[in-house]
Amino acid sequence: MEEKTLDENRQGELLMVEENALPLAPKNGKKLLLESYGCQMNFSDSEIVASILTQQGYTTTRDAEEADLVLMNTCAIRDNAEQRVRGRLQFFSGLKKKRPHLQVGILGCMAERLREKLLEEEKLVDLVVGPDAYRDLPNLLDNLESGQKGVNVLLSREETYAEITPVRLNTNGVTAFISIMRGCDNMCSFCVVPFTRGRERSRDAESIVNEARDLFQQGYREVTLLGQNVDSYKWNINNKGEISDPSKPTVNFAQLMEKVALIHPDLRVRFSTSHPKDMTDEVLQVMAKYENICNYIHLPVQSGNTDVLKKMNRGYTREWYLERIAAIRQYMPDCAISTDVIAGFCGETEEQHQDTLSLMKEVGYDMAYMFKYSERPKTLAERKFEDDISEEIKGRRLKEIIDQQMTHSAACTQKHIGKIQRVLVEGTSKKSTEHLYGRNSQNVVVVFPKGNIAPGDYVDVQMQACTSITLNGSVVQHYPRVI
Ligand code: 5AD
Ligand code: SF4
Repeated sequence: MEEKTLDENRQGELLMVEENALPLAPKNGKKLLLESYGCQMNFSDSEIVASILTQQGYTTTRDAEEADLVLMNTCAIRDNAEQRVRGRLQFFSGLKKKRPHLQVGILGCMAERLREKLLEEEKLVDLVVGPDAYRDLPNLLDNLESGQKGVNVLLSREETYAEITPVRLNTNGVTAFISIMRGCDNMCSFCVVPFTRGRERSRDAESIVNEARDLFQQGYREVTLLGQNVDSYKWNINNKGEISDPSKPTVNFAQLMEKVALIHPDLRVRFSTSHPKDMTDEVLQVMAKYENICNYIHLPVQSGNTDVLKKMNRGYTREWYLERIAAIRQYMPDCAISTDVIAGFCGETEEQHQDTLSLMKEVGYDMAYMFKYSERPKTLAERKFEDDISEEIKGRRLKEIIDQQMTHSAACTQKHIGKIQRVLVEGTSKKSTEHLYGRNSQNVVVVFPKGNIAPGDYVDVQMQACTSITLNGSVVQHYPRVI
């Protein structure tokens, strides 16, 4: 297992608009290449950008050689994420020499972090647009036509793109992301997100439920509700408890999830990311009540030591975190739990590192995303603490964390063997065209013989064998999708 998130596995994926999903806007003859890096939120944002630009008449391409406009939706969370984008930018700069009319733009977190720097000092791009300014893209592109450079990195307290219908990119027609909130107010000391994505704000609950219902009617069978901290979702009520519109109900995350689950029992609901300090029993109760809310929680711990957690400004202790894990297990004994861990945060001692290992052992995570600490400009940690753990020690600690997690992941996958579980079918297995794959409620990939089964169907699978992260089984019951 490398230091890599699931999301990063998809990094640089080219995003194509499905032809049949194109809204009816007159084409302008220009081709857009849209590349996305980083978290699921960025992939979801790219679907908003695609919606805005297809309305302007752009069509998409995967081929850089034929693109008129290249947009890279970027991530700034760790330095290596930025370096990857910079490498790619150099490539596009080379292409620009051959084809001077090519326009190159940076979207997302790097745009926000570096602002005019990319535009002016490095002269690598024509367009720099932050995560809250995508509505301004048509206008900025017009400015480019008249020879001006385009930059808008204004962050907003209100923008949620609520009424923009995303254009689904690279879709399997079965699973989709729905963004329910934007920004983050948590200020974890290592994290650049509050600076690049701005203040936390929630999206209108009704627009979220409508989007999920539309997706179900189009044949989708799973939605993932996305936010940096979904547990602090609240609609029609602010942090002080003041209600914005007394004629309408207030909605918290547990209530929102219930509304989405009630759309149809065949629509699966997932969500990401939870925060240990905010995850309520109400959320767990709703999860336990509805069969179609998946038994999977991503609960980033970051460190197993209370003093390090305090320095990270996470707002909980080791004991608090373990109590939340106990609560999850009490409501849903079968629930899979995954986490994020950072190795070698400022001043981390060997004992504190051991506390992370012991916590991970105690929880027995199904899966983990594991990282070396990477100092980020402007963050609290950069200003207050020294990044004093050497690369060598960070690397060794990370390896210990990864090695231990690999044994936990394998044991967790093994636990499913012998059981019959409901699986939502997503597509053809990468290894064999005679096999399909899907996921069980716990988010484990399950491979099984194709038969007459199609993506979007549900199947009950008897689990027979596994690798460390994938299950194999045979189908005992088939429920075809009815659209
Ligand atoms: N260095 C290393 N990892 C980080 N993360 C966030 N900021 C940093 C950083 N500066 C990790 C955290 C977070 C995940 C999305 O990325 O574990 O939960
Ligand atoms: Fe970053 Fe913390 Fe917000 Fe997550 S909760 S985005 S780690 S500041």
